[in-house]
Amino acid sequence: MDVDELIAMLNKALADEWLAYYQYWTGAKVVKGPMKDAVIAELDLHATEELSHAELLATRIVQLGGTPVLTPEEWFKITNCGYDVPADPYVETILEQNIKGEQCAIKVYSGLLDITREADPVTYNIILTILSQEVEHEEDLSSLKEDLELMLERRR
Ligand SMILES: [Fe+2]
Ligand SMILES: [Fe+2]
Repeated sequence: MDVDELIAMLNKALADEWLAYYQYWTGAKVVKGPMKDAVIAELDLHATEELSHAELLATRIVQLGGTPVLTPEEWFKITNCGYDVPADPYVETILEQNIKGEQCAIKVYSGLLDITREADPVTYNIILTILSQEVEHEEDLSSLKEDLELMLERRR
């Protein structure tokens, strides 16, 4: 495996993490609607964890002799998963946007696991730790969305 190629992929994931962090953080500020408090708590927790993923990736990039992406402008150029603007603050919309982001992250990290499994066990372990949390994030958001839908159905 080419180490420069791996560093480039880790930098793309790092850009994703910063954008995910901000999407959660700002989503938690603007979100409105039923179950708002539970949703805010979850979004804030996920924001913190995305930031810790950025930390893990940047540290590994440096260990591999690379440079972590240096400017926010670069985030948009190299991101895999993009940034969904939380312009509609309704809880369900925010949850759906973030579920989509987590599904993208799971795909990206699953790919990274495959290419590091044999070649780089240290990076593999870091990616596995991150991937496990992304799976948890996706599940937590989906179960909040399910609870919200159940509650709204009962009210009809
Ligand atoms: Fe993450
Ligand atoms: Fe996540």
